[in-house]
Amino acid sequence: MCGIVGISAQRDVTSDLLSGLKALEYRGYDSAGIALLTERGMQRLRAKGKVRDLQSLQAQTRLSGVVGIAHTRWATHGVPSEANAHPHVSGDGLSVVHNGIIENHAELRAELQAAGFSFTSQTDTEVIAHLVEQLQRNGAGLLEAVTAATKRLHGAYAIVVMSAREPGLLVGARRGSPLVLGYGDDENYLASDIHALLPLTRRFVYLAEGDVVELRRDGVRILDERGASVERPVKESSFSLDAVERGEYRHYMLKEIHEQPQSVADTLEGRISGGRVLPGIFGSGADEILAKVKQVQIIACGTSFHAGLVARYWIESLAGIPCHTEIASEFRYRQPVVAPDTLFITISQSGETADTLAALRMAKERDYAARLAICNVPEASLVRESDLVLMTRAGPEIGVASTKAFSTQLSALALLALRLAETRGIDAQRYAAAIADLEVLPGLIRDALQLDAEIKSLAEQFVDKQHALFLGRGTQFPIALEGALKLKEISYIHAEGYPAGELKHGPLALVDETMPVIAVAPNDALLDKLKSNMEEVRARGGQLYVFCDTRIRHGMGEGHVLELPACGEIAAPVLFNVPLQLLAYHVAVLRGTDVDQPRNLAKSVTVE
Ligand code: G6P
Repeated sequence: MCGIVGISAQRDVTSDLLSGLKALEYRGYDSAGIALLTERGMQRLRAKGKVRDLQSLQAQTRLSGVVGIAHTRWATHGVPSEANAHPHVSGDGLSVVHNGIIENHAELRAELQAAGFSFTSQTDTEVIAHLVEQLQRNGAGLLEAVTAATKRLHGAYAIVVMSAREPGLLVGARRGSPLVLGYGDDENYLASDIHALLPLTRRFVYLAEGDVVELRRDGVRILDERGASVERPVKESSFSLDAVERGEYRHYMLKEIHEQPQSVADTLEGRISGGRVLPGIFGSGADEILAKVKQVQIIACGTSFHAGLVARYWIESLAGIPCHTEIASEFRYRQPVVAPDTLFITISQSGETADTLAALRMAKERDYAARLAICNVPEASLVRESDLVLMTRAGPEIGVASTKAFSTQLSALALLALRLAETRGIDAQRYAAAIADLEVLPGLIRDALQLDAEIKSLAEQFVDKQHALFLGRGTQFPIALEGALKLKEISYIHAEGYPAGELKHGPLALVDETMPVIAVAPNDALLDKLKSNMEEVRARGGQLYVFCDTRIRHGMGEGHVLELPACGEIAAPVLFNVPLQLLAYHVAVLRGTDVDQPRNLAKSVTVE
């Protein structure tokens, strides 16, 4: 992953580079660095830890410059350390920041070492610095050298390179990792995404695969992968800065949990009317494709994968269409057999997750009916490379643990399942109930958020736990998985999600009086089965925590039972996930972890 920023201007750009990095910390935060061109040549500062550590260092040294590049890292090759932090340098004034993975770095390293270059880090990135330097020494200008160097790189990269030999010039290049170009007033910018640049400009170009850009404060030239000058469309961003600020909330995650009523309402807006999912919401020609679909293959990672698992239940039960959901990193390395008229769906908050993108690219080589992306970032690679798109409208999600993106993905997937169901002739009453469910969903989430104080006090019972088990059945099984993922991601308590019926085949052996078991119990057809599984836990002295539909409270027995508003089958997975998010959040706060930036993780995983 990693976040990169570059600015060429005529004023001191140090603080803008650092605040740009702060906005990119969701991409990685184990070390950070900056290189600036100063009167004394290229100067570099690097620090292990977060951007704030680099900021303190900068405040002590008062380093400044009018042209610079900066980086926040998520370690792939080499431990988090100052020596491995970017920018990496070569010769007398060449510096590089990189996001991605260079797969042939070992071979290039050996070649460059044989040519006399010595390496000071364990990173794959350092080979880029020496490669460009070598080409420059052989007479190439910076643009030419970077272009030639990229031809030798296998893997994924977004890079920005600066050379003291050509002051004022930054050269950027991308393949497989994102890079945007921002236009300012007598200054220009490059960054991993627009959030880093929003305080500086609203005018952006999303660079295409293989693009190389020559950027100076007073002009920019983009070359495509064949080396021809190209114009790429300039987009005006209407993102409000408030959307990426934390406001009154202690953490982004808490803010984003509380934004869910609005983001779900936004995702549904203009897509349901007169008691039905409107045709045409998947783009022109989509309805004809959807009407012919005989199978569905869903691909995603992490939390998005859990949304895909819920969708499988919906698509099969509402539309009667076989549906498979698979983790992208597995799918991309097997040889899937594609049945005729299969719709290929990717789900991704960022639209840049490397494995999901690779799976999509593989699907493009195969005979799928169409490729549909469900994504939260309009200009993401996934969106641009898919045939059909349904945008979630969660707005920027900054907390590494995904919350509102998940609720909006489920809302979008419910629309898809219902659209497919309508073309297959679903029972009218069931359809009407499902639509009604979606219409009240934002209000139900708002009600569920009222449980916050109660969950906060419940969280105290989890602080000293080592393990936790989450149970659910049907569409609540993926919610159990998601509840467990949230808890482990941010509180570092080992947690597992299980289909409740599977308890007796193994995990029951773990249950004793020290093991908290969390069950999600909506008022559905599987309730009695779930109750039997809960009894199995009680009988072993396990500590049961139940989140149930208020209508079935009396049947839940004694102990910790929290009531959720009454809801139908479509609302249930979205709604029951909310208290699990709050539980994970409060446990993490009590344990004093870094809630928004949990250790070892990153939000946008643009490496394999
Ligand atoms: C990372 C994030 C998760 C996210 C997953 C997939 O692991 O920390 O929150 O669910 O990537 O990301 P995507 O952007 O494809 O939904």
